[in-house]
Amino acid sequence: MSTISIIGSGSMATAVAGRIAKAQHTVEVVNRDAAKARALADKLAGKATTGTYGAAPAGDIVILAVPYGSVAALVADFGDALDGKVIIDLTNPIKADMTGLATPAGSSGAQETAKILPAGVHVVKAFNTIFGHMLAKGGRLDAFIAADDTQAKARVSTLLESLGLRPLDVGALNMAHTLEALGLMMISLAKNGAGSWNIAMKAEIG
Ligand SMILES: NC(=O)c1ccc[n+]([C@@H]2O[C@H](COP(=O)([O-])OP(=O)(O)OC[C@H]3O[C@@H](n4cnc5c(N)ncnc54)[C@H](OP(=O)(O)O)[C@@H]3O)[C@@H](O)[C@H]2O)c1
Repeated sequence: MSTISIIGSGSMATAVAGRIAKAQHTVEVVNRDAAKARALADKLAGKATTGTYGAAPAGDIVILAVPYGSVAALVADFGDALDGKVIIDLTNPIKADMTGLATPAGSSGAQETAKILPAGVHVVKAFNTIFGHMLAKGGRLDAFIAADDTQAKARVSTLLESLGLRPLDVGALNMAHTLEALGLMMISLAKNGAGSWNIAMKAEIG
């Protein structure tokens, strides 16, 4: 099994890393606060290591599990250390007042992030439509993904399958804005019609 690196050690990082560790991959946790990375690595069931913030991550797949508003600073902190990686962007670039998305019209957080990453990076949008606590519960949840690079998308699909999720390809990276809108919709649905955060989006394929 492979090494997957995750940058961040908050709620979503904990849920995703937990799922990855259970699937017997090695998780490398990286955080700007090394003690927080160590604390998460120690909590994980499987093999877990910690990496140095700003240095080249061990995994070929690197998950950015930080707020969208922090991504530009993170990318600057890592610079070329992320070159050649498949980057999973799970952020939901939602305005603080929850009224919409904080991205330029006609773009998405994933595309904006791709623009500032080194040229050899392939960005895959994934995980952003699933609540962390639902991921942690287990189950074959639908995991929508979008990416331009076919190989990167295939590698992330294989990873998602190995985690017991159902990868569903929604198209190229320009479709990430639809997944980000879906992330916002899930939050609004939880607060309104569903009346519960224990919800997950499922595509019925007839
Ligand atoms: N929570 C969910 O259910 C969920 C579901 C789908 C998508 N997401 C997305 O997942 C991302 C993370 O959400 P979360 O709920 O995990 O948030 P969180 O619990 O607040 O964790 C945020 C993490 O980002 C790190 N971070 C913040 N600013 C940083 C910076 N400038 N440089 C480096 N690291 C930084 C924090 O580090 P410190 O610990 O050092 O502060 C922390 O580890 C968000 O983009 C969110 O939209 C969340």
